[in-house]
Amino acid sequence: MATDHKNDKILRSSEWFGTRDLEGFLHRAGLKNQGWSEESFSGKPVIGIANSWSEATHCNAHLRGLAEHVKRGVFAAGGFPIEFPTISLGEFFLSPTSMFCRNLMSMDVEEMIRGLPIDGVVLLSGCDKTTPAMMMGAASADLPAIVLTGGPQLKGNWKGEELGSCTDCRRYWSELRAGTITQDDYDSMEAAIYRSPGHCMVMGTASTMGSIVETLGMSLPGGAAVPGADSRRKILAENTGRTAVDLVNKGVRPSDILTREAFDNAIRMLLAAGGSTNAIIHLTAIAGRAGIKIDLQRFNDLSETTPVIVNLKPGGKYLMEDLFYAGGVESVLNKMSALLNKNCLTVTGKTLGENIAGAECHNDDVIMSPENPLSTEGGLTVLKGSLAPDGAVIKHIAASPELMKHTGRAVVFENPIDLKNRIDDPNLDVDKDDILVMKGAGPVGGPGMPEAGFLPIPKKLLERGVRDMVRISDARMSGTAFGTIVLHVSPESHIGGPLSVVQDGDTITLDVESKRLDLNIDDSELRRRLAAMPVTAEFAGFTRGYGKMYAQHITQAQDGCDFDFLVGNTPVETHVEKSSHEAGFNTG
Ligand code: FES
Repeated sequence: MATDHKNDKILRSSEWFGTRDLEGFLHRAGLKNQGWSEESFSGKPVIGIANSWSEATHCNAHLRGLAEHVKRGVFAAGGFPIEFPTISLGEFFLSPTSMFCRNLMSMDVEEMIRGLPIDGVVLLSGCDKTTPAMMMGAASADLPAIVLTGGPQLKGNWKGEELGSCTDCRRYWSELRAGTITQDDYDSMEAAIYRSPGHCMVMGTASTMGSIVETLGMSLPGGAAVPGADSRRKILAENTGRTAVDLVNKGVRPSDILTREAFDNAIRMLLAAGGSTNAIIHLTAIAGRAGIKIDLQRFNDLSETTPVIVNLKPGGKYLMEDLFYAGGVESVLNKMSALLNKNCLTVTGKTLGENIAGAECHNDDVIMSPENPLSTEGGLTVLKGSLAPDGAVIKHIAASPELMKHTGRAVVFENPIDLKNRIDDPNLDVDKDDILVMKGAGPVGGPGMPEAGFLPIPKKLLERGVRDMVRISDARMSGTAFGTIVLHVSPESHIGGPLSVVQDGDTITLDVESKRLDLNIDDSELRRRLAAMPVTAEFAGFTRGYGKMYAQHITQAQDGCDFDFLVGNTPVETHVEKSSHEAGFNTG
């Protein structure tokens, strides 16, 4: 068997390529068939490149090219790369939602890592769900792993105005509905805003997850903010490939990096960035795969001492390209270093503190100081109360300050279709101080917890100049969206949470400072309504296949919406490929 040339450890890949028998013959033949000489791979760390490239995921469409630069680094460091595809989840095309398939992708990634003849893996991701899905799979498989995202898009530019995807598509959509711009104006924005390779370039979910992964120590310093179109992302890719070989040589696994302290750092980054509410769910799920339970309360606890210092849309002013020029995530972390666990190990082999020491800031308005922040507390707040006993979330940094404490009359929609059908009805009984409530969009009922929580303002109110209202649902919201929007209400309405019994005309109180969300009816009336409510625990639309498995095993938002049976990891040593080969090797 081949050994690790540095540590004399037996490489995992040698189980496939190192034996002089029928199995070894066929494994080697599988590479020689592709034109590789035995010298190219024999005895070398084999690095998988898990590629979520897809033409159906525009944010990841350039990853195929980026993989070639990863390979350069792998070769340069004495390794051998094997690129393979994974499921890819794009926000724009996938039905019913990309979130519906996140766990499926995580299973794909986990089993490919476990099943292939690799010693370590580079995870190529970008669009919203692809990064958490890859992190979840890699944490469960626990083979040396490193993430490389495709980076953010360059700033949009439309008629001389800088635009961020998709914060400004939503803002101008409201203007279109209000009649202040024309359809031709709006159409001409499409190519102007999405003008270069990469993911959405506001501090939406993709940018948040990239920043979080860098903070966790699972990507190289600088990994999050380099634009997808910048040649320095190719250099980053090469260095990522080189580092993957190094991780194998040193035997460093995700379980060495993904500690409770590292997750606290990641939560701090999320809060300091005014990042996406979706990241709460994804971080909880990734931590769950690493055997760490994150309680929702942890986000509030750390929020109290974490100022928002990243001045990016949708809560602030700038875009990811500006963050890159200002010094990137390293600089953010350097400025907030007093709040971090600096001894956490990272993929560089150094601690987080060593990685960020000396990181410079070139624009104090993009990366603000903790002493002069955008907000003195973190950008997200977890709410609880009679309407959300298991929690709800508001991104108050992107909300209207005057609505942070508000009581209003509920205007209720039973599901997203009901909302779509009635929201612009001129006869809808609604006024600016009312609270829009939507049910039926949670993890089970959605299904897949659609990003439908950005409830549109009724057209007749838009025309009167109203641009924000309190809106409440069990849905998620795109990280690029904004407004006084309460999300992730749990338990969701479909499984009988209090949201299911809210009626038109009830009053609801949102109090962000007190972290409360309450339905203002007596306990006895709430119990009476809940008892009378027929409950369907599973989504009735699925009778077979993945959908059925999803409906039976999906957990609620506070548990990360992972499948109950996927929580935790399986040490890779327990994989079964060797015994199954011996029992009957498949030669095709
Ligand atoms: Fe992919 Fe926004 S659509 S990150």
